[in-house]
Amino acid sequence: MMYFDAELEKRAAEAEEIIKKYLPKEEGLHKTIFKAMNYSVNAGGKRIRPILMMETYRTMGGTDMELVAPFMAAIEMIHTYSLIHDDLPALDNDDFRRGKPTSHKMFGEAMAVLAGDGLQSYAYELAAKKLSSVTNQGDPEMVRRVVRAMRILTEKPGVNGMIGGQTVDVELTGKPVDEKVLQFIFELKTGAMIEASMMIGACLAGADRDQIHDVEHVAYCIGMAFQIRDDILDVISSIDKLGKDTQSDAKNEKTTWVTLYGMDQAMEDVDKYSEFAFYGLKKLGVENVEDTFLYALVKWLIARDH
Ligand code: IPE
Ligand code: IPE
Ligand code: MG
Ligand code: MG
Ligand code: MG
Repeated sequence: MMYFDAELEKRAAEAEEIIKKYLPKEEGLHKTIFKAMNYSVNAGGKRIRPILMMETYRTMGGTDMELVAPFMAAIEMIHTYSLIHDDLPALDNDDFRRGKPTSHKMFGEAMAVLAGDGLQSYAYELAAKKLSSVTNQGDPEMVRRVVRAMRILTEKPGVNGMIGGQTVDVELTGKPVDEKVLQFIFELKTGAMIEASMMIGACLAGADRDQIHDVEHVAYCIGMAFQIRDDILDVISSIDKLGKDTQSDAKNEKTTWVTLYGMDQAMEDVDKYSEFAFYGLKKLGVENVEDTFLYALVKWLIARDH
């Protein structure tokens, strides 16, 4: 376990450096937008999406960090935008995130909306720039990989992914939600971004269609376990540990995995989805996958207490 902690620290530092490198400079007459964007990204967070992307890339044979780096920064920017908007008074109305006041508390609501918008489009600028430079290098296989990665980066956070899930989540706040609908919400609002992270890693490493599909399934299971755990932590954890408001779901009268199934079942379901994820990882055809950091990372993610 000590060994894992040190390895995780190393990866987190690596992801952190990459994310920082791609942040915009805070200059120009419009510098407030950059300040607001950077404030939320720099506030921290576990960086699990970029780390999952990097580890999937490496585990599936990728070696060129320059190729995956802009996509790692992009996914974290899109994720951070989703958090800024999720915390707005019109949505979950939360005051703390990543151990700091939320964007709208710091910069006002209008600027928080714009900071989210800014992070989203900036993420796609990074990906498009990478496509340009890869196209100039002229290797058609690399161009093909980056185009497919861009397609994933546009689809998964979008209306049939994260935004679609947030739509149903918001629409049904305070209203009865059944099992099927809650599963739909989790798959989209949280699963889609984890899927994007791992699929882009696999795609850039040169995985074929079937392998990317298998990775998508593993990521879906991780996403489900991750969101169920998030619902559990909202009940049992504290703002000090999580860096964000707890009891937020009760405040908003949300149906969560805990309200629908009870705490014991929710804990069991985290284990169930984790087992599915491990089973899927073993089927990926990676040699000694149980010894990879990716495998240990998934184990840690789902048992996390922050
Ligand atoms: C929070 O994601 C939103 C969910 C999908 C549950 P994280 O728990 O990854 O948040 P950060 O990035 O570490 O702040
Ligand atoms: C939000 O789910 C998932 C997103 C797409 C941001 P939650 O509303 O449960 O996330 P937290 O608990 O505020 O991080
Ligand atoms: Mg929410
Ligand atoms: Mg929320
Ligand atoms: Mg939550």
